[in-house]
Amino acid sequence: MISRLEQMKLGALKELDLIAAAKELELWRVNYLGKKSELTKILRSLSSLSVEERRSVGATANRVRTELESRLTQKKCTLREVQLAAAAREEDVDVTLPGRPLLTGRLHPITETIYEVCEIFNSMGFQVTEGPDVEWNYYNFEALNIPDEHPARDVMSTSWVDIEADKDRGPMLLRTHTTSVTARVIESREPPIRVVEPGKVYRYEATDATHTPMFHQIDGLAIDKGITMADLKGTLYEFARRFFGEGRGVRFRCDYFPFVEPGVEMAIECLVCNGRGCRLCGNTGWIEILGAGMAHPQVLEHGDIDPETYSGFAFGMGIDRLPMLRYGIDDIRLFYSNDLRFLSQF
Ligand code: DAH
Repeated sequence: MISRLEQMKLGALKELDLIAAAKELELWRVNYLGKKSELTKILRSLSSLSVEERRSVGATANRVRTELESRLTQKKCTLREVQLAAAAREEDVDVTLPGRPLLTGRLHPITETIYEVCEIFNSMGFQVTEGPDVEWNYYNFEALNIPDEHPARDVMSTSWVDIEADKDRGPMLLRTHTTSVTARVIESREPPIRVVEPGKVYRYEATDATHTPMFHQIDGLAIDKGITMADLKGTLYEFARRFFGEGRGVRFRCDYFPFVEPGVEMAIECLVCNGRGCRLCGNTGWIEILGAGMAHPQVLEHGDIDPETYSGFAFGMGIDRLPMLRYGIDDIRLFYSNDLRFLSQF
């Protein structure tokens, strides 16, 4: 039986040498190594042999099988190379050229902007904090000095959520600003507090070049003993310098927000006309980028922080506007239409 095996092997290898196509190679495999091959039959019948025979025939059969298998693998590689070379000749491609790089993903420009803004405030000691997108009336409005009948509710066209109202916190809505997170932080933390709160916000609005029903904001809050308007201005000047560059003019003007007193708006010199006046800035030379102010005593009291001991400043800005201004993008919808021709430029 041993010599039969050796003979079979020689025959198989001779045949293998002549094979030039993958299909023939497969037939060869089935014939010599497949379930119904002679080799498999011999291996299966080992149990019926005497112990001695079993040992010697078994060893030979296994050796033959290993050799045939390794020659089969070699042959597969050779055939593959021959095939590639033939294809290369036919198509005139150089198979030695480096492969095409795999496409890797990248961060969305809005995400990158959020990271960049957070990084700037991080370096000034502010921690990043997040809150829920679906929010209670209490944190979005009440705790921020915006009671039910307050006119400030009108400018925030709200998407209410159809679930049962809570007896203390009222109905639920998609938060209209990230200032809701400020209300939560004031309630749940002890001063000193320094946080920035990035996230998505929602308004019930029709979509156009400057409005989408979902966009992004980042709010900030600093509460400690002895915080003044000078801290607010110093921090926001530094942000503007780091984000928009060294020489960009910054302007503060009075503004009104129910949760701060006094309130301000901050504008930067227009990035298109550098302050001379153009279409983007409505000929004023300035572009408003955020609202801010000193935390209203009543808002602090909502969170059990004593306004006699502590003071603080808060600010909030739209994120989407920032890359629009920086790169001169004139339609906010481009961020959300998932067109790689646009997105892969950043
Ligand atoms: N929440 C305001 C808005 O969405 C922006 C804002 C203004 C946030 C003043 C603040 C602030 O924290 O102090 O228009």
